[in-house]
Amino acid sequence: MDAHARLLELTQRLHHLNTQYYLHDTSEVSDQEFDQLLAELQSLEQQHPELAQPNSPTQRVGGTVTRQFAQAAHRYPMLSLGNTYSEDDLREFDERVQRGLEGAPYAYVCEQKFDGVAMSLSYENGALHQGVTRGDGTRGDVVTANVRTIRTLPLHLAGDCPAEVEVRGEVFMPNQVFDELNAEREQNGESLLANPRNAASGALKLQDSAQVAARRLRFYAYSVLTPGRHFTSHSQALEAATAWGLPVSATWRRCANLDEVLAYIHEWAQKRFELPVNTDGIVIKVDDLRQQDQLGLTAKSPRWAIAYKYPTAAARTELLRIEYNVGRTGAVVPVAHLRPVLLAGTVVKRASAHNANQIAALDLRIGDFVFVEKGGEIIPKITGVDLSARPAGAVPIVYPSACPACSTPLVRPEGEAHFRCPNERACPPQLKARLEHYVSRKALNIDGLGAETVGRFFDLGLVSTPADIYDLPQRRAELITLERLGEKSIDNLLAGIEQSKAVPFARVLFGLGIRYVGETVAQKLALHYRGIEAIMAASAAELAAVPEVGGVIADSLAHWAQQPESLALVQRLQAADVQVTVSGEPPQAASDRLAGLTFVLSGVFENYSREQLQELIQQHGGKITGSISKKLSYLVAGDNMGPAKREKALGFKVPIISEDELLALLPTD
Ligand code: IVH
Repeated sequence: MDAHARLLELTQRLHHLNTQYYLHDTSEVSDQEFDQLLAELQSLEQQHPELAQPNSPTQRVGGTVTRQFAQAAHRYPMLSLGNTYSEDDLREFDERVQRGLEGAPYAYVCEQKFDGVAMSLSYENGALHQGVTRGDGTRGDVVTANVRTIRTLPLHLAGDCPAEVEVRGEVFMPNQVFDELNAEREQNGESLLANPRNAASGALKLQDSAQVAARRLRFYAYSVLTPGRHFTSHSQALEAATAWGLPVSATWRRCANLDEVLAYIHEWAQKRFELPVNTDGIVIKVDDLRQQDQLGLTAKSPRWAIAYKYPTAAARTELLRIEYNVGRTGAVVPVAHLRPVLLAGTVVKRASAHNANQIAALDLRIGDFVFVEKGGEIIPKITGVDLSARPAGAVPIVYPSACPACSTPLVRPEGEAHFRCPNERACPPQLKARLEHYVSRKALNIDGLGAETVGRFFDLGLVSTPADIYDLPQRRAELITLERLGEKSIDNLLAGIEQSKAVPFARVLFGLGIRYVGETVAQKLALHYRGIEAIMAASAAELAAVPEVGGVIADSLAHWAQQPESLALVQRLQAADVQVTVSGEPPQAASDRLAGLTFVLSGVFENYSREQLQELIQQHGGKITGSISKKLSYLVAGDNMGPAKREKALGFKVPIISEDELLALLPTD
C-alpha cells in the first residue's frame, strides 16, 4: 500500500476510534495499539508533509463535546501527555530535558496515571464554581452539578487559598464500587458497565445528578493552576492542594534523578493493583515550575512531562473446563475454569470465554495453555492460546447445542453473540433468576425475602413464579419446618410480602423481568399506559411509538403478552392485590429540577401538546420564553420547526433538544 493510501486509512481508523472512545465510551483496541496507530500516522505525516490533513487526528488532543451540557472554554488548554512503553524512551526523555535545561540541576515528580476522566475544577474565593470536562482540550462540558456529587471533593477549600484556583485531576469510579454496581445490574437484568473508566465517563454525562450520586464517583487532584505564580514547584502545589482539603493520592514522590524515577516505576508495577482505582502507568513531571516554562509545550503535550505505560497484565495458565451459565433471559454464557494463576495482584480461577464464535476463532481446547488478560475490565478474559504448548490430548470444545439446564435445543437469534435457551416457561435457572429479579431492590424489594431465600424456596419447589410468593402466607406451616428459618424471620418475610403490595406499578412491571424492559422503560410504559391490561392489549407498533420504547423492546413486550402464562401470572398478581395499574396522579411529582433554566418550545410534538409540555416545564421550576437569545437554556424542537429559529439557536450556541430529551431532564420517580 502506498503512503497516501495508508495515511488515509489510518486517519479514518483513528477518527473512528476517537469517536467510539470519546462519544460512545467504547474502545475496540488497547491504548497501546491506539498509540501505535497514531505514532505511525505522525511519522507518515512527517515524511510526507504535503499529504498531512488539517483535521488529522494527530492535530487534536482528543474527543469532542456532547451537546446536552452547556459548554465552557478552558482558561488554560487541557493538554495530553506523550506516552512511552520502554525505559529506553524514558532515558531519551530525560536527555531531552537535560538539554532543554542547559545543564541546570532538576528533579522530577512521579505520580500514578489514574485511569478515569480528566476534569478541570475552578474554585472562586475558595468555593467550587465550575467543573468542566476536557472535551476537545479547549472547550468542554459544564458538569458542575455532577461533580458536586463527589463526596470527597471539598465544596469550599480550607485555609488560605488564592481567589482563583483551577484544579485539574481525574474523576474515577473505585473498583469496589464498580463491582458492586455491576453485581446489582446483573441481578436486575440490566446491561453491565464495561469497565470503571467507562462507568465514570458515562456517569458524568448523566442529566440527573441524583443518578450520578448513586455512582459514587471520586476524584484525585494532580495539578493546580493559579493566575499569579503561587508556587515555585509542582510538589509545592500538590502539598498546598492537600492542605486545602483536596483529595491528592498519597502515592506521588519527588525523585532526584532518572534512577529514582525507574525505582518508583518498578516499585509500583505490582503495588498499583492494591490501589482503589485502576491506573495504567506513571506520569513523570519536571518539578520546578520555571523549568517547566523553560521546556515549554509541543502542539498537544508538554515537553516537561511524559507518561510511562505498563504493559497490560497477562498470565498463562491451563484451561480446565468450560462451564455454561444460563441467565435470566436465557443467554448461555461460557465461563472458563482455569488452573489458579496470579494476575495483577489477584488469584484468577475463572475468565470470560466470550462466546461460541470467539471460542472457535481462538480454537480453544480443554487442556490448552491460555493467556488471560486483565485490561480495563475487572473480569479477566482469555486472549489467546499457547499453541506451542498444546498437549496431545487437548480436547476441542464442542459448544452445546442444548441447554445445559433443561436440554432444550439452543437458538441463536441473528446478530446476537450468545446462544439462548428458548424455554422461558420452564428452564429452571431462568425461572429462578426471574424470581431473584422480582424480589430485588429496584423491583419489589421484598423485606426478608432476598435473592438467596427466594432461590432456596425455588429449589425446594415452594415457588416458581412471582405469583407463588403471594401464596406463601397460606403455607406458613411448611415454612416453619425449614431449617435456618425461625418464626421471627417468617413473620418478617410475610410482612415484607404484604408491604410489597404497595409497590408502584412501574416497579412491578420492571420486576416481571420482561426482556429489554429496564427501569426507565418500565416507568415510561407505566406513565403512558397506566396499567398492565393496556400494555398487553397494545400492538407491537403501538408500543414502539411510546417514547424510549423502540422496536426491539416493543417486540419483546408483545411476545411476552402473547404467552398464556403471562396472562395467568398477571391475573394472579392482580388477585393478590399487587399494583398492576398506576394509582393516583402520574408519578412525576413537581420538582425544582429545571429551576433557573429557560425554554422555548417550537413546532409540533409527538406525545404531548405544546401546552402540556409548557405546564410540565413550569411544574419543575423552568421558565417559558418566547424568543431566542444567547441566555436561553434550551430550544425544544418539534416537527416542522421554522428554520429561522434553528439558525438563531445555532448562532447563539443554544442547545436544541427533542421532546424526549426534555422528558429525560425530568426526575423519574
Ligand atoms: S498531568 C499536561 N497527571 O492522563 C499534563 N495526567 O494524557 C496534563 N492523567 O487525560 C496531565 N493521571 O486526565 C496528569 N497524575 C496525572 C494523571 C493524568 C491521569 C490523565 C489525564 C489526561 C491524560 C493525559
